[in-house]
Parts: sequence; C-alpha cells; structure tokens
Amino acid sequence: MTTPLPDRITIRRPDDWHLHLRDGAMLASVLPHSAKQFARAIVMPNLVPPVTTPEMAVAYRDRIKALLGGPSAGNTDFTPLMTCYLTDGTDPALLAQGHKDGIFTAAKLYPAHATTNSAHGVSDITKIDAVLDKMAEIGMPLLVHGEVTDPAVDIFDREAVFIERVLISTLKRHPNLKVVMEHITTEEAASFVLGGGANIAATVTPHHLVINRNSLFAGGLRPHAYCLPVAKREKHRLALRKAVASGSAKLFIGTDSAPHAREAKESGCGCAGIFCAPTALEVYATVFAEEGALEHFEAFASLNGAAFYGLPPNTGTVTLLRERWLVPESLPAADTTVVPFMAGQTLSWKLNGF
Ligand code: DOR
Ligand code: ZN
Repeated sequence: MTTPLPDRITIRRPDDWHLHLRDGAMLASVLPHSAKQFARAIVMPNLVPPVTTPEMAVAYRDRIKALLGGPSAGNTDFTPLMTCYLTDGTDPALLAQGHKDGIFTAAKLYPAHATTNSAHGVSDITKIDAVLDKMAEIGMPLLVHGEVTDPAVDIFDREAVFIERVLISTLKRHPNLKVVMEHITTEEAASFVLGGGANIAATVTPHHLVINRNSLFAGGLRPHAYCLPVAKREKHRLALRKAVASGSAKLFIGTDSAPHAREAKESGCGCAGIFCAPTALEVYATVFAEEGALEHFEAFASLNGAAFYGLPPNTGTVTLLRERWLVPESLPAADTTVVPFMAGQTLSWKLNGF
C-alpha cells in the first residue's frame, strides 16, 4: 500500500553545496532565486578571472553580500561560502591560511579545459599533491569536477573514466582527504561514493535526477538541457534516484545551477550549464515524493551536507505546498533573459511564500 502524499512538507532550511552565482548584473539577477530557498551555498569560483586568492574571494563575497536584501530581496541572512579555484600553481600555505581565516570553505578542482572557465584548472592532479596533503591535514574539502579531459574518451564515459584513472589513485595517495564528487551523473559514481569511506561524499543536481541523454535531442537539439557532466543514459538517472532515495548520508543537494544568457545557450556552440536555481527545491521534492522517499528528503536537503562540511545545520524551516504551478518560459537576467530548468512545465510542489 502506498502512503498518501502530504499536502505540505516542512523541513529545516536547506543549503546548496554547489552553485554558480556569476558576477555583476547576472549575479544580481540570479542571486534571489537561490537566497529565497537556501540558507547557505557553496559558491563556485569559475569567474573570469577565476577566484584563486583569499583577497579575490573576500571581494567576491562582498559583492554577493552587498546585493542581499536589495530591490529583489532574497533572504538577507543568506550566507555565501567561498571556494578557491585550484591551479597548477596554488600555494598550499596561502590556501590553508584562507581556510583558517574563514574565507575558503573548500577548494575546487577543475581538470583544465573540462568545462566553462576551466582553462586555468589543474593540468595533472599529481602537480597539486602538496596542496592535497595540506588540505587532508586541515580537513578542508576538495570539490571535484570528476571528468577526464582526454578527447579520446567518449564524453559519456568521462566521469566513470575519471574515477578509474584519477580519483582512485588520488585517494590512495591522500587517504584522509575529504572529497565531494560534484554533480554525479552515473551508476559508477553513485556506487563508488556509497561504497567509499566516510571522507567521500557527493552532490546530486535536480536535473540529473530528471533528464537523461535523450532529453538533449527530444524533437530537436535542446541547448537548455546541456550541461557538464552531460546527462547520461536512463539507467544512470535511475541509479541516481535510487541512491538519493536510499537515504544515504553521503549524498546532498548541490544544484550546479549555472545560468547563461539565452543567446549564449541557443548558439552554434552553446554553453554548458542548466539554470535550475528557480525550481531546485521543488524538483528535488518531486523526485523524493515520486520515489516514495519523502522521509529522507530533509536529510538530503538540510542535514547531510552540513554534517559532511562540519557545519551546524540551519535554524528555521521552509515549507513546500503540494500545489501545481507553471514554470516561466524565461526570466529576466542582466540585460537579457535566462531559461530556467523545466521552463513551460508544470511542477507539483511550490515553495510557500513565493
Ligand atoms: O554545465 C556546467 N556549467 N558545468 C560546469 O561544470 C560549469 C558550469 C558553468 O559554470 O557554466
Ligand atoms: Zn558546477
């Protein structure tokens, strides 16, 4: 017998452990979508130029904070948690100082050229072994974009190959390093993380729980379904849903919301990134409800990530109502528009008060 769905779900205020907020006018436009749902967010450092020093992170954090409570509101108490973009030249002592000073919550590994603004990323992970040693020593989490960049590897295999070629050996060299495998997309990644030690966890995006690789080609080329790592076969989507529905404490929200102007997506060479912030919590709730796993929703949204990062859970709550609403086709952003995930579709959960 299936349990009837509740009319409302109230959970402790959640966090987004992987978010692209951008900068300037785009930042001002997209920030309220995250701030209305989440108390804290791990802010990705892949700006141009990338955020590689404590000074740059403080300046970026100040630009974010200056917008909170502004005209388009958003919670004034939203806390951006900053990350350092690792390069071949990252200085372990400077990174550790930034962590000690409460500036860098974590550091982000982009394999060079793996994705948007990753040209300055790490060319070979063994080059940053001294940095990883220091991070393991101080308990600073490494956030991994887990894809190899070898053009000979099929794009749909790049995550699984990263685990085999890079992650396993890195964890052998640094067995105590805290690692978050970001935005996992495959059965292989889910089983690697679930079967790994307590020092390894993963974030899962709303979109990888909803779309598979067919969605990129449904009736024509669908640029708004394109992100990296790219959505995989249906069996992988099902494996991700099963993993989050299992209630594993190693999995938590990381939306990877990555806005790009509509014209940058709808182009001869469209940018990677799905702007899922406006619908994120509602989509996750839908997935947990569909999986009959609502009892694990709060831990995934609001407890597991904080516990992994060694931070206290938030106080206060948010409520989702079982109410149908139409996701807008597009939203204004900077001097253009952005297309939100699920644009033009009906969702069955709605954040109360918005
Ligand atoms: O699809 C993506 N977009 N994946 C990433 O790793 C980066 C992001 C972006 O910054 O646009
Ligand atoms: Zn990302």
